[in-house]
Amino acid sequence: MKIAILGFGTVGSGVFDVINMNSEIIAKRAGKPIEVKYVLDLRDFPGNPVEKVLVHDVNIILDDPEVKIIAEVMGGMEPAFEFTKKALSRGKSVCTSNKELVAAHGAELIELAAKNNCDYYFEASVGGGIPIIRSLCDSLVGDDILEIKGIVNGTTNYILTRMGEDGLDFNVALKEAQDNGYAERNPAADIDGIDAQRKAAILASLAAGAQVDCDDIPTEGITKVTAEDIAAAKGLGAKIKLLVNIRRDDEKVSAMVAPFLVFENCQLYHVNNVFNGILVTGNATGDVLFYGKGAGKLPTAGAVAGDIIEAAKYYGLPSDTIWSREKANMAKQGSSVGRFYVRLNENEAMEARKLLGVTAESASSKSGEVAFITEAMSEDDFNSKIAKLNALSKIRVYD
Ligand code: HSE
Repeated sequence: MKIAILGFGTVGSGVFDVINMNSEIIAKRAGKPIEVKYVLDLRDFPGNPVEKVLVHDVNIILDDPEVKIIAEVMGGMEPAFEFTKKALSRGKSVCTSNKELVAAHGAELIELAAKNNCDYYFEASVGGGIPIIRSLCDSLVGDDILEIKGIVNGTTNYILTRMGEDGLDFNVALKEAQDNGYAERNPAADIDGIDAQRKAAILASLAAGAQVDCDDIPTEGITKVTAEDIAAAKGLGAKIKLLVNIRRDDEKVSAMVAPFLVFENCQLYHVNNVFNGILVTGNATGDVLFYGKGAGKLPTAGAVAGDIIEAAKYYGLPSDTIWSREKANMAKQGSSVGRFYVRLNENEAMEARKLLGVTAESASSKSGEVAFITEAMSEDDFNSKIAKLNALSKIRVYD
């Protein structure tokens, strides 16, 4: 079975390494040897073993009938979208880590694959090395998925952990995440929550079996989270985590991405550094927790390699991933109820306590400031009340 890899960056070079490193067990498990015939990249890699199979023109790959499977690990919308459509139209299965493309066009590409008797796999698009996609599509397929909550961005979890546990400055922690190969090419996609939003769109679409667009998902990143908030959260017995929060009820879906205070009694409190944790609640199975490395060369490459073996084993027998292009019915935003963490100047504390109620209070690390947790209320209610104050920080609480 001949395959090609599009992109020789962090993930692409990892896929190349895993396929070569594990060639014997892969041959056994796929029922046939798998050989990388081409790697596509614009760059040259003098002295690297990839040189023997490196090409700069995608048509060499698309026009070669021997290539049956393509790993698209270039990332970004174009030209990945165009290459994927052309590959699927020619009956080549595509395995990808490209969450941007899957979130926007997953349903369409699954449909195109089925029409051409091949497959579109995207295990590595969410949770890095965590087998969450196949679990939702196969193992948990008998469940109605009611909730998916979790940490799905390794870079921001790494940054928040290093700031919280080791007192590192935001930019130093980000630089470490970049050096470890966790961050997106443009790290704003991580820290503004866009990467988590794309992953939330994929998870919500699979849970609903219908299209949830990124635009349907209100999103906040971690740029407003300060060292003072992390310290005050610690004083309250909590950590700050960037979470996706997906809920389904009465045929409606709601999804959001935002920083939350998470307490020690929740499993997600213990998910640190580059690890991701995803809590899935099914109406039959109940709660299932997925935990593993959410970013990095080999964990992500391992997930792509798993897809390649699956594609090789079932070549010509396309799977039936249920993700229709029809729009999912989205719940009205602002109606979800929860508690909120607020940090503000002491001179506003009395009014704030009266307006929002207090269920827990912590000293802020800065003198002249207080931090506390409000009573439970709807997002809309909280927003109208907090608008009357000059809050320095406001963060949702995961209860
Ligand atoms: N930048 C992403 C993350 C890579 O940090 O999670 C894996 O999708």
